[in-house]
Amino acid sequence: MNDVLKNIHDRRAVRKYKNMTVPTEIIDILLDAGRMAPSAMNRQPWKFYILTDPKKIHAYSKEIAGIAVKEIKHIGIREAAKLTLSFFHLSTMMSFLKNDDHIFYGVPVVIFITSAIADEWGALDVGMCAQNIMLAAKAMGLDSCPVGFAKYVTQTRDYYQLNISDAEQVQLAVVVGFGDESPKLHERITDNVVYI
Ligand SMILES: Cc1cc2nc3c(=O)[nH]c(=O)nc-3n(C[C@H](O)[C@H](O)[C@H](O)COP(=O)(O)O)c2cc1C
Repeated sequence: MNDVLKNIHDRRAVRKYKNMTVPTEIIDILLDAGRMAPSAMNRQPWKFYILTDPKKIHAYSKEIAGIAVKEIKHIGIREAAKLTLSFFHLSTMMSFLKNDDHIFYGVPVVIFITSAIADEWGALDVGMCAQNIMLAAKAMGLDSCPVGFAKYVTQTRDYYQLNISDAEQVQLAVVVGFGDESPKLHERITDNVVYI
């Protein structure tokens, strides 16, 4: 298998990290990889908001966890199960429940990615951008996890500190750091192809 394919196959959502900072030069390389993603009509709609202060990361994480729990209670058990399962593979729920930091997993770097609310392709473009960042991280010996729960950051007391404008929508966060676990592969569904 060539290096690119191996990287794609080896990437995992990692939820345990070493207490090691990531140099700014590496973060810049990851962002450049993100910027190389394709985007509808080449609009490159992504904007990156980066947290590296451990105290701030922990504070946002704690508050988002509280908001997520309230949200889950509010929408009822059936919808909550759907929401939770849309973010998690079932078996990862256990590590979610065990971890002290349920949202950002004690990472040294959180990258919130936004796109313009008015951009109908924003979510898709940001998804491609995020995947580039995660594969670049893997290629550089780092690990990552996409965090959909990060969208609740908009409801936190300190959201204003991120300076995200009202015209933007937080689509996702990608958390990055030096992984301290090697999650096993979640088998992929393969009976989802129709050759015509
Ligand atoms: C849009 C999206 C949102 C996700 N949100 C979360 C999240 O909030 N928390 C989390 O721990 N994992 C989250 N994940 C990671 C998935 O649970 C993970 O990718 C999936 O279980 C497959 O595992 P793998 O990435 O190791 O192959 C998210 C993934 C995607 C694509």
